[in-house]
Amino acid sequence: MVAPGRAENSSRSIAMEYFQYDSHELRCENVRMAELATRFGTPTYIYSRSAIQENFHNVEQNLRDLRHLVCYSVKANSHLKILSLLRNAGAGFDIVSGGELARVLQVGAKPDTIVFSGVGKNAAEIDAGLSAGILAFNVESAGELEAIAARSHEIKKRANISIRVNPDVEADTHPYISTGQFIHKFGVPKKEAVQLYHRAVAMPDLRVRGIACHIGSQILAVEPFVQALEEILDLTKSLTREGIQMEFLDLGGGYGIRYVDEKPLDLGRLASELKRRLAGTPYRLVLEPGRALVGNAGALLTRVLYVKHNRRKHFVVVDAGMNDLMRPTLYGSLHQILPVERRTEETFVADVVGPLCETGDFLARDRRMPRVEPGDLVAVMTVGAYGYVLSSNYNSRPRPAEVMVDGDKIELIRPRERPEDLMAGEVM
Ligand code: LLP
Repeated sequence: MVAPGRAENSSRSIAMEYFQYDSHELRCENVRMAELATRFGTPTYIYSRSAIQENFHNVEQNLRDLRHLVCYSVKANSHLKILSLLRNAGAGFDIVSGGELARVLQVGAKPDTIVFSGVGKNAAEIDAGLSAGILAFNVESAGELEAIAARSHEIKKRANISIRVNPDVEADTHPYISTGQFIHKFGVPKKEAVQLYHRAVAMPDLRVRGIACHIGSQILAVEPFVQALEEILDLTKSLTREGIQMEFLDLGGGYGIRYVDEKPLDLGRLASELKRRLAGTPYRLVLEPGRALVGNAGALLTRVLYVKHNRRKHFVVVDAGMNDLMRPTLYGSLHQILPVERRTEETFVADVVGPLCETGDFLARDRRMPRVEPGDLVAVMTVGAYGYVLSSNYNSRPRPAEVMVDGDKIELIRPRERPEDLMAGEVM
């Protein structure tokens, strides 16, 4: 297991840890995790405000020589507190639904910093985007282009558009979060993009602003991004020759972080590769990082309820389950699990499981970990992205509370749900 508290690699790329041991006790910034459990109960998502700020600052620093706009990908964590923090830091937003649009407008996002991605925007969502006057709809099919033009004509609001190109680039990541090949539903092939641009410039209700792509998520290598950029630059060259000019290139998100011992994507190197290729072009760069801004800023604090054994296995039953954190079940993803109080050197190999009635309800399997006992607290690390947002009420389990820590300040940013919240709106 990698010791938390260690600064990241030389370029200090994305992850500087804000969860550290102070002697034997795990802290978030200056606050003891154990104190948070006492105050708010478990399971609870804990976020470090400084981590998010530092992550954003780090991305901005790396991009400083490029004309750019960072549009935080809201799906990674859509809590208003986090959106508002990033908005105040200068971020724009990448949204994928009417719900996310409502959230970013709620925190005062400027419309010309919002890009709208996704293969299935409905008429109401298109109307909401048009009324807000967003920077661009990232159009993912011919049908969607027609639908946007029709809505735009109907409500007399000109639509800004980019075509999302599927560059057919392989990104070495989990198949469920890889998006940039022809087997995936996203974007359109280059050839079709050219046709769609010609259609778009002929439609008075549309204004061509950019070109977009997104090749996948949790990508650790620089090369696939460079390859994707080269593909879209190539396309812009032929479009320019045909008189169709872009203002920006949207390279999407997907910047990989460290969960266990991965080497995070080297953002510094990525930035210099991009810079080299963009030199002499008129384009502004749009990036859509999600995980890289919030992933390492969150931990799920949970308490051990029982420890049970059979001839083959040890099971650590905790009070958080797959409904609270889906990633291990959904992607087989690994998250470090740290004892909140380090009081033994002794380890064992166990499955860390939740209380749900599903074999797939696990947070870790066959994990060597400190020997814990009922009543102990553990923290599931690096869950700031795609943690709470993927949670559900399966088994009628109220969703966890969420708490933000800033130095020694503690703020409950969402209370734990109660059973009555889950029944609200239902009829008997
Ligand atoms: N832009 C677009 C168009 C996307 O589809 C995504 C993520 C992003 C940006 C942000 O990607 P990021 O920088 O966070 O990698 N639930 C999965 C990840 C799904 C990603 C979906 N799209 C997980 O837990 O790993």
